[in-house]
Amino acid sequence: MCGIIGYAGARQAAPIILEGLAALEYRGYDSAGIAVLDADGIPAVHKKSGKLVNLAAALQGSLPEGVTGVGHTRWATHGAPTDFNAHPHTDCDNQIIVVHNGIVENYVQIKEDLISQGHEFTSQTDAECIPHMIESYIEQEYSFEEAVRASAREIKGANAVVAISTRDPGKLVAFRLGNAGGLVVGYGQDELFLASDLPALLPHTQEVAYLAGGEMVTLDNHSANYFTLDGMSVTKTPMHVAYDALSAAKGEYKHFMLKEIHEQPEAIINSLRGRVSFNDLKVVLDEFQISDADIARIDRVVFLGMGTSFNAAMVARNWMESLARLPSEFDNSSEFRYRDPVIDENTLVVSLSQSGETADTLAAMEKAQENGALQLTLCNYPGTQTTRIADHTMLLRAGLEIGVASSKTFTNSLISLYLLAIDIGTRRGVLEESRRRDMFAELARLPDLLGQALADESQYEVLAQKFGRRSDFLYLGRGINFPLAMEGALKLKELSYIHAEGYPAAEMKHGPISLIDDEMPVVALMPRDDLYEKMLSNVNEVKARGGTVIAVATEGNEDIKKRVDEVIYVPEVSSLINPVLMAVPMQLLAYHIALWRGCDIDQPRNLAKSVTVE
Ligand code: M6R
Repeated sequence: MCGIIGYAGARQAAPIILEGLAALEYRGYDSAGIAVLDADGIPAVHKKSGKLVNLAAALQGSLPEGVTGVGHTRWATHGAPTDFNAHPHTDCDNQIIVVHNGIVENYVQIKEDLISQGHEFTSQTDAECIPHMIESYIEQEYSFEEAVRASAREIKGANAVVAISTRDPGKLVAFRLGNAGGLVVGYGQDELFLASDLPALLPHTQEVAYLAGGEMVTLDNHSANYFTLDGMSVTKTPMHVAYDALSAAKGEYKHFMLKEIHEQPEAIINSLRGRVSFNDLKVVLDEFQISDADIARIDRVVFLGMGTSFNAAMVARNWMESLARLPSEFDNSSEFRYRDPVIDENTLVVSLSQSGETADTLAAMEKAQENGALQLTLCNYPGTQTTRIADHTMLLRAGLEIGVASSKTFTNSLISLYLLAIDIGTRRGVLEESRRRDMFAELARLPDLLGQALADESQYEVLAQKFGRRSDFLYLGRGINFPLAMEGALKLKELSYIHAEGYPAAEMKHGPISLIDDEMPVVALMPRDDLYEKMLSNVNEVKARGGTVIAVATEGNEDIKKRVDEVIYVPEVSSLINPVLMAVPMQLLAYHIALWRGCDIDQPRNLAKSVTVE
């Protein structure tokens, strides 16, 4: 949830750290801080509540000098977002400086023990106990590195920590506990970096190594040494990541999210590349190479995810049932992890997490693992925690997604899940060649159709002016488009702070219909499919009660104009693939309403891109 960066090298650390924090701000943005050690090891620590611009303003262009340092951007868990609670945190003598991501579950006990030993705390955070623990071990004659290791062994919970010390200037010591809260080491020329996530590293290097849970690293300007928390040496070979710094730049777009929405046609081409064999009408998933016997023994599929990934999981159930004829279900990872689910070695568990770091999804995957399930995970970044638990990983290939609200990772999740269902259906012998031929022809047209859906943005500007002041929205959909109604409502809530609900359209009569009035717009997802007439009945019910309807309908449906107040058209496709196109109006309507309301689109309040705490 928080963003961490560390630097040891020959260049001035402060500009690199501030730039890295800007790239990580999507992870948390309620306060930010920086600490740099000068040539004599004297620390300069600056921190400020609010966004990174507040810290930059407080520094007034006079950056602390030194070649070793750490930085942090925070998403508060313990203690309000104040200057005092901002990271870095220090020990009593300002000699140990720490940045932290996660929750120290046993911090109350640790803090009480340290206070009884005479340590003085200045914040309400759980993080502040870490520098004091390290200090207390150093008082017992431990080296800096040993003191960090001993502290790490005492801490409970999923945590990532980077520490520097005035006694060991030039060195960073970091550790990671549990699955959540990533830490990546970046290898440069005579310089090394540590960061929560790739965007902070990519302007400097594409050679990286991930720290696993229970590992620690010490690094300086020329090497990184890895250990377990027992002190056993661990060998790691840096891997090359393909994303470059340019792909993270906003370019001509006002916001990263808008750029990412418009990148969807290209992202989809990337997700199809090499996976769809148009000649023999087969899907070839190199990442999911399992034997025919393994395919035959799968008797159930469970899809897991949170937020937007959960909405994609809901769509996937329809595909797996329809194309592979396999009993399928979906669940929020956070609910699944605390149930007693019926899972065994014949269950295929498909988890979705663009970040690969979502704490609840990791815990749900661990539960599935305990029950012996076969696991496939869908993730946008190689080497993340979900990929370590799963038996197989399918990368989303969406490119970097910086906007906190998911867009292209959603549509690429959908495409990946669609391909998976086709692959399993084909291998189970239940998906006839003639059907596949039509589906493949449509897949080939899909990037172009998405481009068409993206073409006319002015209609969303008009809708934003008309409806931007409203305080509640209802989104209705049926069948495979119900999850898209959920996604539309989620996008509107998180971007514009307008209350919105997604409902299966028939469910409206069982309660929400009492909300209908001329103040609450109803967004009706009603492409021309088997359920169109049913949707029309629901729309009539809304109109009969004085409601306002914005229909999302199939291009060419002129009749709908007479029946509703506003129409957004999407190109015609088969009903199964409709959700991919429906994603565009859900995203652009929310984007333009948020823009009209002056909201912080790339970094909505209270949110974070990776939710690494429960
Ligand atoms: O990284 P994940 O896909 O596991 O993230 C899951 C959710 O936190 C995420 O989809 C969240 O709902 C986004 N804000 C949606 O735009």
